[in-house]
Amino acid sequence: MAFFAKKKNREELTESVLPLHIGIIMDGNGRWAKKRGLPRKAGHSAGAKTFRKITRYCSDIGIKYLTVYAFSTENWKRPEDEVKSLMKLFKSYLEEALADFKDDSIVVKFIGDKSQFDEDLQKLMIENEESSKNRDGMVLNIAMNYGSRDEIVRAVKNICDDVQSGKLSQDNINEQLISDYLYTAGQPDPDLIIRPSGEYRISNFLLWQSAYSEYVIMNKLWPDFEKSDLDEAIKIYSNRNRRYGGV
Ligand code: FPP
Repeated sequence: MAFFAKKKNREELTESVLPLHIGIIMDGNGRWAKKRGLPRKAGHSAGAKTFRKITRYCSDIGIKYLTVYAFSTENWKRPEDEVKSLMKLFKSYLEEALADFKDDSIVVKFIGDKSQFDEDLQKLMIENEESSKNRDGMVLNIAMNYGSRDEIVRAVKNICDDVQSGKLSQDNINEQLISDYLYTAGQPDPDLIIRPSGEYRISNFLLWQSAYSEYVIMNKLWPDFEKSDLDEAIKIYSNRNRRYGGV
């Protein structure tokens, strides 16, 4: 499928307009494993492979920003062995798979509170950010220990601190300034948010940033998600008429 690299005009939607920023809620790993009589961790491993495939595909077709939801602030509530296996998976990915993204010039960023991860994982996250920061390809935001409400609380506290210390005047608080205090500061808001697995929920993902995002819910579990499903989501998105509150 051929895509136009840039939007011509937000009102004039053409057949396959490429979103600048895509968000993906990688959901359905557990159900995928259950259907096969496998442990949930097998679903997460399969999901990690899909993550790698779809990330490269997004970069190949010219997406500029991709944000994936890997671990939420609420996911710590899962059984201990599931959390442990996810941490193991993140470590092995940060050691191996993300190094692969070098060939695609992908810039890796982590959004969320790193401080709750163990030291090795935090170190790997920082190393990945540092080593990729001067690349010129797609920006990949990996949301880990991320919750949008938590992000907004953190932003409000930082704004209060800056007002108190005189660095910021209350008169300068506006929508743009709030965006600038979020983890995604400096990035465009997501145009398209994809949720596989058929659930109609936002699940605390990019609440502020998705004010005008188009949601596409797909009936596929994340480990089964194919490049053709991404094409399909982009096609659905590009046929939507985005009005931003206008007519
Ligand atoms: C939600 O599915 C998925 C997760 C909580 C984990 C997502 C993580 C990955 C896909 C691994 C990605 C790896 C890196 C390095 C980013 P679920 O377990 O809630 O599925 P269910 O709703 O079917 O139970």
